[in-house]
Amino acid sequence: MSDTGIKGIRACVFDAYGTLFDYASAAARCRDVLGDQFDRLTTLWRDKQLQYTWLRVVQNRHADFWQVTGDALDYALETLAIGDRALRERLMDLYLTLDAFPEVPEMLKRLKKMGVKTAILSNGAPAMLKAAVDNAKIGGLLDAILSVEEVGVYKPHPKVYQLAVDRLAVGAKAILFLSSNAWDAHAASAFGMRVAWCNRYSQRPERLPGKPDCEIRSLAEVPELLAA
Ligand code: LAC
Repeated sequence: MSDTGIKGIRACVFDAYGTLFDYASAAARCRDVLGDQFDRLTTLWRDKQLQYTWLRVVQNRHADFWQVTGDALDYALETLAIGDRALRERLMDLYLTLDAFPEVPEMLKRLKKMGVKTAILSNGAPAMLKAAVDNAKIGGLLDAILSVEEVGVYKPHPKVYQLAVDRLAVGAKAILFLSSNAWDAHAASAFGMRVAWCNRYSQRPERLPGKPDCEIRSLAEVPELLAA
């Protein structure tokens, strides 16, 4: 973690999948059927899901994240030669109740006590985000749940980051954006937000425009970052 705090922050804006919610928890809960393949399925599913968002932006053919997530799952299951339709439905249902990372509720409570606005800014469709937030019981700790569906284009299009500025009525420089996805962290920085990259997956920095202001391992570090 950086030893210099981030000053003047009025809102913390969080990515959802991989940052607040553990996307690996869906396949992990199907280990009874998937066995050792659960890890491989998680990686294939997530990689294809993100690729489809980017490809659809380039093609100007938007479909919401529920559709893209289902398409990516079908691709991943076929790659692993798994033809079990009941498993497919079970995995999609589980995507609506992904585990929140353990530090999330307490961290949000501390930010609210500090008077900082909190929001989600995600590719997720509104119903998906609502289900995950309700399941984690964190709705009362969030000022806004912002979905790219409002702008009809996926991250890292600048319109997505602008949505948070507009809806929270807070300037980009007074927003701390948090994402475990390095490419998302770089893009928010290039847009003009302050950024803490929550490097949960020990990735290398991207070679893309923008540069996160700091790197943390867990969201539990966020309140100290603002207080320092
Ligand atoms: C999201 C994906 C990128 O929640 O994790 O927007």
